Amino acid sequence: MEKILEVNNLHVTFTTYGGTVKAVRGVDFHLNKGETLAIVGESGCGKSVTSNAIMRLIPDPPGKISAGTIKFKGSDLTKASEKRMRSIRGVDISMIFQDPMTALNPTLTIGTQLMEGLRQHHKVTGEAARKKALEMMDLVGIPNPKERMKQYPHQFSGGMRQRIVIAIALICEPELLIADEPTTALDVTIQAQILELFERIQRATGVSIILITHDLGVVAKIADRIAVMYAGKIIETGTKRDIFYNPEHPYTQGLLKSVPRLDLQGEKLTPIDGTPPDLFSPPKGCPFTARCPFAMEVCDKVYPANSILSESHKVNCWLQDSRAKKLLAETAGSKA
Ligand SMILES: Nc1ncnc2c1ncn2[C@@H]1O[C@H](COP(=O)(O)OP(=O)(O)OP(=O)(O)O)[C@@H](O)[C@H]1O
Ligand code: SF4
Ligand SMILES: [Mg+2]
Repeated sequence: MEKILEVNNLHVTFTTYGGTVKAVRGVDFHLNKGETLAIVGESGCGKSVTSNAIMRLIPDPPGKISAGTIKFKGSDLTKASEKRMRSIRGVDISMIFQDPMTALNPTLTIGTQLMEGLRQHHKVTGEAARKKALEMMDLVGIPNPKERMKQYPHQFSGGMRQRIVIAIALICEPELLIADEPTTALDVTIQAQILELFERIQRATGVSIILITHDLGVVAKIADRIAVMYAGKIIETGTKRDIFYNPEHPYTQGLLKSVPRLDLQGEKLTPIDGTPPDLFSPPKGCPFTARCPFAMEVCDKVYPANSILSESHKVNCWLQDSRAKKLLAETAGSKA
């Protein structure tokens, strides 16, 4: 399978008066062409910082990509000039930002905002841009596109505005779309419609998608693969099947127990107790130690190695160590 994006050992830090925040601490993942990878995790774990780093939109100062590589179709974006990044953003890689309020300009018509990217990057004529804008509005399911082009954002509902934001992100036909919490601000029915729209767009255009969310329901619907993030690190990756049916990391297991499942009516939901560690001085070892029901002495001292469970499934947890496995088997045996 062709890899469109490969992120290796990515570190992002923010230097503030209070000290240095280690927001992303050695993240590795890849994205295959045409697939949807979801990055999930609690608030503050570094999802947005990771996606902003791919777009090279980390404000410097205070932020900095302090180590690692981000290879997009083989070329390392951490080394690209700002001029090259400007030609990539919105054209090869597009992003839907987390804050829906700032996504559209209230003073410009929807049509102008849709055509802006095309005009800027592809130097197309007004008529060709208009035609493409109408096509995109149709693709994202906006009725009466000709009339709607002339209207302003406040004349659109929240769901419709999000469709427009998606259309703007896709109008230059990017190969990679990064969507940071694209459905969080929407109510549940509209959320479902937007997720269906992502699926339809992927089928129609073959675009590869990174979907950032804290909502496992969203993930279950459209992700092919999932990367679970915790305190600036990816702690488990796998296919949707690996993560939902065979979660190995106690944090992933906790996340799954804390979301309602439609197929298990009346089941008890268990929130994960405690809070993530302070990223000013993250622990040397496993960052989940303080909240983990299985924590062992070694856990907060040494970071667990990446255990490869199958071609698709990887996890960083000391429970995968053969000695821990042996001990667990013995304890289970003595209880039996
Ligand atoms: N400009 C900044 N200056 C200082 N710290 C920052 C800055 N941007 C992000 N951080 C810190 O980096 C960490 C990761 O933030 P990030 O926005 O990536 O979280 P997230 O996983 O996207 O959370 P959420 O689900 O709430 O969107 C947080 O501790 C945050 O406070
Ligand atoms: S490494 Fe230790 S603390 Fe971390 S998740 Fe695994 S068992 Fe729990
Ligand atoms: Mg975020």
